[in-house]
Amino acid sequence: MIVNAKQMLQKAAQGRYAVPHININNLEWTKAALTTAQELNSPIILGVTGGAAKYMVSFSTVAAMAREMDKALKLTVPVAIHLDHGSYEQCVACVEGGFSSIMFDGSHYPFDENVAKTKEMIALAHKNGLSIEAEVGSIGGEEDGVVGAGEIADAEECRIIAELGVDFLAAGIGNIHGKYPDNWAGLDFAALERIQKATAGIPLVLHGGTGISEEMIKKAISLGVAKINVNTDCQLAFASATREYIQAGKDLAGTGFDPRKLLAPGYEAIKLIIKGKMELFGSVGKA
Ligand code: 13P
Repeated sequence: MIVNAKQMLQKAAQGRYAVPHININNLEWTKAALTTAQELNSPIILGVTGGAAKYMVSFSTVAAMAREMDKALKLTVPVAIHLDHGSYEQCVACVEGGFSSIMFDGSHYPFDENVAKTKEMIALAHKNGLSIEAEVGSIGGEEDGVVGAGEIADAEECRIIAELGVDFLAAGIGNIHGKYPDNWAGLDFAALERIQKATAGIPLVLHGGTGISEEMIKKAISLGVAKINVNTDCQLAFASATREYIQAGKDLAGTGFDPRKLLAPGYEAIKLIIKGKMELFGSVGKA
């Protein structure tokens, strides 16, 4: 059931669990995320970056694929099709292209400009029934060519952006996209507490969900994180399952060279990762 993400995340914040945001890159990824959500009766958010949409042709192609799968698989769990780290133009394309949720990432603008642009995007999203995520304090690491320095968001800035009427908020608390360096200081829970207090119960979003310890994930959820983004873990699992299959020569064995067989181990590997995240985040049975 395609819905916007507002209600599912409010419910998660109140129930102290988190909905997995799984970045998708192709049909297999999308199908793995949707079937696992249905099997475990968990809500799910399909995250789509501009780069992933370009690879899959366009935002509207992705939305149409997800909407058709939702129908054909007769999904009963809530599913949001969500733009990840969107620019102004990408937000407009997603509103027009059939997404149910967008993230406007204005964190690289001077704060006043982030406020002005976020306000405009909130109006556009809400007028069209979409939910919207905003960001304060950039997330570290690199994703799709966008590099962030890993800031800690300022609680007062978070309050100002939250009061504009965003549905959920990504606030940097030392999290990084991709693999964490060995000398990573960990999540800044004092900052998270300050942000939670300042934003009065708005669902918070944790980007960079790969490589954060279970203990830190649980603590973040206890402090109001209701959506956790995961990309790299699925990519690593997909790549290593595919590599193993090829190294064993199975891609050329028997009836051979069947792309559906070649991609099957990667598909299963992604499903296992998502299942593990749903169990860890506490979203199993919460649809
Ligand atoms: P990871 O790649 O670290 O899992 O982060 C994903 C993410 O935050 C997408 O926005």
